[in-house]
Order: sequence, then structure tokens, then C-alpha cells
Amino acid sequence: YKRITVKTLVDMKANGEKISMLTAYDYTMAKIVDGAGIDVILVGDSASNVMAGHETTLPITLDQMIYHASSVIRAIDRALVVVDLPFGSYQSDPKEALRSAIRIMKESGAHSVKLEGGKEIKESIKRILNAGIPVMGHLGLTPQSIYKFGTYTVRAKEEQEALDLIEDAKMLERIGCFAIVLEKIPAKLAKQVAKSVSIPIIGIGAGNGVDGQVLVLHDMLGMTHEFNPRFLRRYLTLFEEMTKAISQYVEDVKNVDFPNENEQY
Ligand code: KIV
Ligand code: NA
Repeated sequence: YKRITVKTLVDMKANGEKISMLTAYDYTMAKIVDGAGIDVILVGDSASNVMAGHETTLPITLDQMIYHASSVIRAIDRALVVVDLPFGSYQSDPKEALRSAIRIMKESGAHSVKLEGGKEIKESIKRILNAGIPVMGHLGLTPQSIYKFGTYTVRAKEEQEALDLIEDAKMLERIGCFAIVLEKIPAKLAKQVAKSVSIPIIGIGAGNGVDGQVLVLHDMLGMTHEFNPRFLRRYLTLFEEMTKAISQYVEDVKNVDFPNENEQY
């Protein structure tokens, strides 16, 4: 595929081709991720944790998300870019939700938005879709509601919550969402959801019976090292590698090993 669109993703599911998705929040990282062949880049509100050091995703603002999204957009040639609507930018009413989504699309040049939740935000999603803006849903563990849940543990282990989740997924498909993220739910339930809708289900901590996977870039690169959920696979140990490199630089400067003869004018 030359350029990934929302249509490409739905076709990929129909053809049984898995979808790869990672987060990125800045130009340099997005350039690497896009060049490596990722299908979807998520400018996640996990930037609140990863970029800004907040404990939750709640504090990040719409202006800050737009800054991250516009940096990512300038880097990409192929991937579809999805941007999270941050906490507080869509929950009060559908008009506010649409205004926020329009700001993201206009001011960053992003391709689509993601909102957390099911039937509670149905009218907001419909209004955004009516404006021609593609929407990705997000069900299961929804970090913007962390103070309601109280913990980051696996969601929808109980039957009623599982049934509600399936209903929400079907509703999101019916009103026109192009894909849904399912976060931290039992693999069996995620597989069942993926089978019951024709739009792609992208999992994080949701097993391999879904249509694609997403991880937070800094986690899978091993740059963060205090966050150790079972679902996380680390492809590099950059925390250790970077610490070693920086310590070496400090030592070289102190010992006047850097710069050497060839590294000066
Ligand atoms: O913000 C984020 O990184 C996300 C993914 C974990 C799906 O929403
Ligand atoms: Na998010």
C-alpha cells in the first residue's frame, strides 16, 4: 500500500491481513516509525505520561495534543495518523466534541481521531462522523476514566461488562467508526468482538485473536522501564543502552577524551 487510509484498514481485515500500530508524539520518532513500515501511528494521550511525566492521561490539553500531532504529521509519508481527543475536550456535549475534533484536523493535518467510550458518547461520535472526520473507538480499559475504575487491571472479566462491551462495539460499527481499540480485556472476549464486527479491532493486552496490535513506542523500545504489564514485549532495552551511552559521554568530557583531534576545527 502506498498510503494507508481508513478504507485500507477495513480491506486489510477483510483479507485477513493484520494491522500494526504504534504511538508517536514527535517528528524524529514518527519519521523512524513510518519509515519502518507501520500501518497506523497513534498520537496517543499517553503523551501525558510518556512526554510530560504526568501520572495519568487526564492533564494533557487539546493544544498540546495538536502540537504533538502536527509534529508527527510533518514526518509521515505512508501511515494513517490517529489522534486522541484528550480528557475534557469531548465529554460535555456533542458540539464541543465536534469543535475539538475539527481543531485537531485543521490545526495538525491529522487523518482521524480516537475517543474513549461507548454509548455514553454515541451522539458525540455521530456528530464528528457527520462532519466527515473518521473516528476510531476505544473500549475496555479506558485510561481517561481511571478514577472511576480505581485500577489499571483487566476489564470486562464479569459477564455484564463483557456483554456491554460487545454491544458498544456493535454500536460503534453501526454508526460508522472505522476501527476500535480494545485495551486490556480477556483474549477470548476480544476475539469474540473481532468476529462479531467487520471493522478492524486493534488490541493492546487483548490477545492475538484480533485484527491488529498497538503498543506505546517508548515501552516497546524499552526506553521506559518501570512499567511492566504482562502484555508488553520489549524489542530493545534502550533505557540501559542510553544510560550507558550518556554515562560514557559524561566520562569522556570529564577526561577530555571528547572531542579528539579529528572532532575539532
Ligand atoms: O494513548 C495511547 O497510547 C493509547 C493506546 C494505548 C491505545 O490510547
Ligand atoms: Na489514549
